[in-house]
Amino acid sequence: MTKKNWYESKDHLEIKNNQLFIGGLNTTVLAKQFGTPLYVYNGNRIVENFQRLKTAFIQASLPNIRIHYAMKANFHPAILRLLNQQNAFLDCVSPNEVLLGLKAGFSSEKILFTGTSVSNDDLKILLKAKVLINIDSLSQLKRLKKLVKSNAGKVRISVRWNPGSFGAGLHDHTITAGKHVKFGIPEKQVLNAFKLAKIFGFQVVGLHEHIGSGWKGKDVQTFLKTVSKTLSMAEKAEKVLGYSLEFVDLGGGPGIPYSVSQDFFPIQEYAKGIALAFQNSKLTCSIAIEPGRYVVGDSGILLTTVNTVEQKGSLIAGVDSGFNCLIRPAFYGAFHEIVNCNQVNSKQKQKYMVAGNLCESSDFFNESKYQSRPIPGIQEGTVLALLCAGAYGYAMSSNYNLRARPAEVLIWNKKAKIITRKDSFKEIVKKFR
Ligand code: LLP
Repeated sequence: MTKKNWYESKDHLEIKNNQLFIGGLNTTVLAKQFGTPLYVYNGNRIVENFQRLKTAFIQASLPNIRIHYAMKANFHPAILRLLNQQNAFLDCVSPNEVLLGLKAGFSSEKILFTGTSVSNDDLKILLKAKVLINIDSLSQLKRLKKLVKSNAGKVRISVRWNPGSFGAGLHDHTITAGKHVKFGIPEKQVLNAFKLAKIFGFQVVGLHEHIGSGWKGKDVQTFLKTVSKTLSMAEKAEKVLGYSLEFVDLGGGPGIPYSVSQDFFPIQEYAKGIALAFQNSKLTCSIAIEPGRYVVGDSGILLTTVNTVEQKGSLIAGVDSGFNCLIRPAFYGAFHEIVNCNQVNSKQKQKYMVAGNLCESSDFFNESKYQSRPIPGIQEGTVLALLCAGAYGYAMSSNYNLRARPAEVLIWNKKAKIITRKDSFKEIVKKFR
């Protein structure tokens, strides 16, 4: 029997007759049926990931944890609806995310808005939507007070703080705590923020931290240190307020493996660590988390077709998508597994630069232009799958070079449905005057 590839998992990514299947469907057939470039998500996997998280907290004796899905990872309403059915809460970072979350069926009480550099226009939309506003700066707090005047008592807010000297993340760009970080209220000012919010008359219901995105391994312990710090800050905040908080939100960030050399997320260690820190505190409030990547990251793949095979400085496999479809390799040097959908495990491999169709030297899907990727059997016409593209893939896509954003397909119970059309030329240019 051949050894399994690290990413294979039952009813999700499977290999049959050397071909890649997702959610029970053949990827090459999906590529033919819907065209490429194409994002394909397995909805059943999304639910499975969400339930795995929930179960870990039930086992850690913290069953009432609120799981706010961070929709910035993948904001498609079909995915939001799936997670709403699972009783998820929602973490939004822009007014438009809030409006889409409401449209997808989330009630305003289940939505937390955590923005940064939030304008008065943003605040007006949030007030109208009646969602909980997580305050990121003293400026935002003061401007919010000016907007609501004597109605502050009707407005529920929480406070995001930066828990200090450390953050964690898969790349410097995804670390959101510690020094040189624009997010949250610094340690020295956070109790002042609570005092001020109380004087202003707001209903202050929570404390929030988010230390970064895509951490695992040893970083879980770093995260747990910030959890203890945040819980003890919450106790101090309660003293300042003179009443109990409704929740402490520990942010998102749990990572996923993108390659054979990366670990799976230690979900028990994470859940038990949070539960223990909470038991050791004097707090009686709820605990919330805000995972994005962990819920949707491995559920999605990007299918793309090779149109050019040619020896240049490197052996190039030119494909019909680019960093306008998936920017993570170009932006973070991120690794995404690249699989030949029709010859997954063939032995004869050659090393390629899998190059996109944008006019930029950084437009390739290898983690670096110096790292050619061994892939078997590539020919012009071959369909390739970029794995673990469900989070921050389509969400960060663009029309750079006036290229279309790809179509999206959602599989549910082995049936595929188109959930986003590929942009047409008309759609791309229709806003221009
Ligand atoms: N909560 C807040 C306040 C956040 O800023 C984020 C992510 C999350 C939750 C969710 O983090 P997650 O569980 O997905 O790690 N574009 C990058 C990731 C940037 C994350 C930004 N904030 C990437 O492609 O890796």
